[in-house]
Amino acid sequence: MTAETNLNASEQKVIRLNRPSVVVLCGPAACGKSTFAAQHFRPTQIISSDHARGLVCDDERDQRYQTQAFALVHFLIEQRLGLNRMCVVDSTALTVQARKNLLEIARRNRVPAVMLLFNIPLNVCIERDRKRERTVGQPTIEHQHHLFEQAKAGVKREGFDQVIELSDEELAQVRFEIVFRPVPRPATIDHRAEPRRFAPRPQQPPAEAAPPARNGHPPAAPSGKPSGEAA
Ligand SMILES: Nc1ncnc2c1ncn2[C@@H]1O[C@H](COP(=O)(O)OP(=O)(O)OP(=O)(O)O)[C@@H](O)[C@H]1O
Ligand SMILES: [Mg+2]
Repeated sequence: MTAETNLNASEQKVIRLNRPSVVVLCGPAACGKSTFAAQHFRPTQIISSDHARGLVCDDERDQRYQTQAFALVHFLIEQRLGLNRMCVVDSTALTVQARKNLLEIARRNRVPAVMLLFNIPLNVCIERDRKRERTVGQPTIEHQHHLFEQAKAGVKREGFDQVIELSDEELAQVRFEIVFRPVPRPATIDHRAEPRRFAPRPQQPPAEAAPPARNGHPPAAPSGKPSGEAA
């Protein structure tokens, strides 16, 4: 098993994750995914579809550019996994296709895929949405909650290494333990150990053969650059 959960004596829900992993947050709008992610992970570990949408089209809410936003999300995940970094994907992940795309990236990079299901009651989501500045409205929450119920019923058969359901009460009790289990990849090779890729620098002429410096500046190299910059 690649991620485990335990309730310890103080009723904390301990979730063990490997780094690197693809941790997929799944839940309807306003269930608390971004809040939870910010409480437990570094900003750079969180790959947010809202943020990606903002980066590609200047407006996090503009749903017309989903294709571009998710292309960026997937690209960032690939790049980070190649460097054995943690990827917490903050999107609703409510469709089978969205989850399949993320699972495939994890498989291709030979890292665990972990699903966190935000099992928050519909009325709580609606209330949280109502109180926040950026509301999406009750009909959207109802629709997404319906999709979430479908996801909850089927996700265990989709191939994720671990599916962890979190109730509203459990959100406050979660603690993550992250174990570094790097996947050997070319990008992690210590470049200092690589063979030299450049020819050795040509020998400098002996100091006495160099023309004298003028006005305190070194003489120009043939390239026109000061000789101190020649590499
Ligand atoms: N555990 C919690 N208890 C009370 N309020 C919460 C909790 N988690 C989040 N909230 C509040 O609920 C609102 C929605 O939270 P958040 O933005 O994290 O949801 P989200 O799932 O990321 O939504 P979206 O999918 O729209 O991005 C916020 O105002 C947040 O402060
Ligand atoms: Mg969010």
